[in-house]
Amino acid sequence: MKVTVVGAGAVGASCAEYIAIKNFASEVVVLDIKEGFAEGKAMDLMQTASLNGFDTKITGITNDYSKTAGSDVAIITSGIPRKPGMTREELIGINAGIVKAVSSSLLEHSPNVILIVVSNPMDTMTYLVHKTTGLPKNRIIGMGGALDSARFKYRLAEALEAPISDVDGMVIGGHSDTGMVPLTAHATRNSIKVSEFLSEERLAQVSEDTKVGGATLTKLLGTSAWYAPGAAVSSMVQAIACDQKKMFPCSAFLEGEYGLNDICIGVPVLLGKNGIEKIVKIELTEAEKAKMKESAEGVRKTNGLLTL
Ligand code: LAC
Repeated sequence: MKVTVVGAGAVGASCAEYIAIKNFASEVVVLDIKEGFAEGKAMDLMQTASLNGFDTKITGITNDYSKTAGSDVAIITSGIPRKPGMTREELIGINAGIVKAVSSSLLEHSPNVILIVVSNPMDTMTYLVHKTTGLPKNRIIGMGGALDSARFKYRLAEALEAPISDVDGMVIGGHSDTGMVPLTAHATRNSIKVSEFLSEERLAQVSEDTKVGGATLTKLLGTSAWYAPGAAVSSMVQAIACDQKKMFPCSAFLEGEYGLNDICIGVPVLLGKNGIEKIVKIELTEAEKAKMKESAEGVRKTNGLLTL
């Protein structure tokens, strides 16, 4: 399996690092426009190989897409990250042009590639890739829900004072501070609904903390987070590489599922060798349905800012 990561910033480098450490890919190519930057990151990462025990070959390249040829999966992290106080939506102007150019360059050299979109505003960038590349919908996947769900589990474990491995939960909807829909009614601790242990108010707080998970980190770090985004991407790539048919909430192009059409938004999907193998339909509560509808309206508003 050959994986390309476009963008050698913190998120891109973290994707490459976690993919390598998990040791399922033969090759990871990191590409950046800044002269020598990807080469430097790749060399530094390769010098961890004997220490961390992986055999994945990581190479860095400056803007030469011919070196990405034959990639099975490519991850688009390029564009500008948000600064404290910014929403993901404010990045659209610059990032739309970059994501469009990057996806077209990737496809020129890897016509069968599966694309994972990380650049923000992610659901809109995923939609843009759909509209501009014409790829089948199973091969365009937006990364948001896997990260937001990891943040949800972190907050649930904190509230329950439980180890994270005791907790399960999922976040669907748009990858934005207002659009995320943490499925609190479905979340469990060892298969028992968390509502057995937490008050409605505490659960509402968990939900709020989850939704602003990225903004909280941006404020603390001065730029957007990278460890959990990288780990989320690497788990998704592993599911594809190993044909796991593992369930993640991902931004997928919908054609009627969840009552939505012509939109990319977070829903549960199965990831395997073909990318999105299936969109999983689950029964939502009335409150969750209303939140999903509202979330979709937000994503559509951002999509409306695109010049397609
Ligand atoms: C975050 C970015 C990756 O949520 O959107 O940290």
